[in-house]
Amino acid sequence: MAIRTMRYLPDPVLRQKAKRVSAIDSSIQRLIDDMVETMQQANGVGLAAPQVGVSLRVVVIRMPGEEPMAIINPKMVKRAGEREVTEGCLSVPGYAGEIKRSISVTVKGQNRQGKAIRLKTTGLMAQALEHELDHLNGILYVDHLESQDKLHKIEPEAEDGGM
Ligand code: NI
Repeated sequence: MAIRTMRYLPDPVLRQKAKRVSAIDSSIQRLIDDMVETMQQANGVGLAAPQVGVSLRVVVIRMPGEEPMAIINPKMVKRAGEREVTEGCLSVPGYAGEIKRSISVTVKGQNRQGKAIRLKTTGLMAQALEHELDHLNGILYVDHLESQDKLHKIEPEAEDGGM
């Protein structure tokens, strides 16, 4: 495993629509391993492949106290409810913002073995999935800010939990 170089706004790779993964081969397995290591080193809860410069539809998520998981070719099936959350992004360091996210989301995709999976989640996991799926479509949380007053600077120690 290796730590990959994080891409930061305004890197154009963050604005591309990522491509579907057609074959889950050893290069994808290595990408997932490296993404997990990169996310853990940054104390993040989620990471999308474009954030390490790879424009493919792969995301990893790690909820506190749980094993990290990968979702390949994730697709949003359903969203319900709305709540205001504070969010940060590993590609937008030094900032956090208040935006609206769904209360629950249902996502389908494939796990790293290529098996079809479907997840219905709420809370932080739902927020992280919406955030990471946005990354695959070139969208960043700052695009959802209702006004610039909703964005503020944060201290480096408050960066944990970025996505
Ligand atoms: Ni992010």
